[in-house]
Amino acid sequence: MSTTRGLEGIVATTSSVSSIIDNVLTYQGYNIDDLANNASFEEVIFLLWNGRLPKQAELTELTQQLAENAEVPQEIFEQMKAYPIEKVHPMAALRTAVSSLGLYDEAADDMSEEANRQKAIRLQAKVPTIIAAFSRIREGKEPVSPRKDLSFSANFLYMLNDKEPDEISENAINKALVLHADHELNASTFTARVCVATLSDVYSGVTAAIGALKGPLHGGANEAVMATLMEIGDVDNVEPYIRKALDNKEKIMGFGHRVYKNGDPRAKHLKEMSKQLTTITGETKWYEMSTKVDNMVTSEKGLLPNVDFYSASVYHSLGIKHDLFTPIFAMSRVSGWLAHILEQYSNNRLIRPRAEYVGPEKQVYVPIDQR
Ligand code: ACO
Repeated sequence: MSTTRGLEGIVATTSSVSSIIDNVLTYQGYNIDDLANNASFEEVIFLLWNGRLPKQAELTELTQQLAENAEVPQEIFEQMKAYPIEKVHPMAALRTAVSSLGLYDEAADDMSEEANRQKAIRLQAKVPTIIAAFSRIREGKEPVSPRKDLSFSANFLYMLNDKEPDEISENAINKALVLHADHELNASTFTARVCVATLSDVYSGVTAAIGALKGPLHGGANEAVMATLMEIGDVDNVEPYIRKALDNKEKIMGFGHRVYKNGDPRAKHLKEMSKQLTTITGETKWYEMSTKVDNMVTSEKGLLPNVDFYSASVYHSLGIKHDLFTPIFAMSRVSGWLAHILEQYSNNRLIRPRAEYVGPEKQVYVPIDQR
């Protein structure tokens, strides 16, 4: 038996949801650049779940279904109020709340395709409501009910801030959601597929995936990037800070990628957004610091920024709390997880690899009083 650390380069499944070929990311064959420049997140959800772009009537129907399913059972909010709130990270809260949601869905264990598609809509619709509600509850405020007349992105910002967002913020969130929606067999998507390949339910698959996304080597990196930028504090401090970190062989968050060695195609969109938004807020230092870090890490280590690097200054510029960055990633990626979960169910086989044993051998049991 031979092993590949971290399963690098191993092709573990076939999938028609998204692909990374020659450094180009596509969702169902559509280049991410094309989608980022043109599509609404709702269109992307339809694309990922149906394999084609929606016609207008289909998009209207999906948008309505998402709006109609955005309410969350009051019990979930009551549970949140009972969390040890000042210590709970929003990703942990989201993971627990999504798991709880399954308790209130009578169809949770109905494994028919139709029931699973309906659950996909319910989960996609409710995740933003949960994130916004948790953010408010921990500040001692009541959750804001979702509105049916707003887009997915605008509704999230509205529930978060109890205020309708301006067009620039709505469009920025929409583009960020489009860019994060799916990414082939990344760690959280693989987790979701492994989970549901046992024929466990959709809620279990998404809960497991949220747990995997939470880690700083995966989705948690966007929050970690902002922590780094805050610690650096000023453009003049970038050079000594990064030099010291590199000399100490520390990881610079938001750089490197298991698959992309020539750059993450999503990063340029977020870089441009970061430039525009920091210009609008007048806090250009976040963009300037980011580009300086980028130039230095690229030239000294040959590592390029990934999707998380510039998304930090984008979300910060939108006034979003730093520990909500990864939940926003989850709010988008749940669309991809659900597409992969539906695909896994449609052609399932248990995922059960092997491990090469490297432990001690031929041990003989010794009674406890003789050890
Ligand atoms: N900063 C400094 N050095 C790095 C970084 C980094 N961000 N990333 C990789 N390296 C170094 C490694 O230490 C290693 O060096 P070595 O050969 O001297 O040991 C070399 O580059 C190769 O890196 P690997 O660890 O083999 O890369 P791997 O594919 O295992 O990990 C990962 C990829 C996890 C993304 C890694 O680059 C990393 O930790 N980056 C920082 C965290 C991050 O931004 N994660 C988000 C990824 S995108 C996403 O999940 C949405």
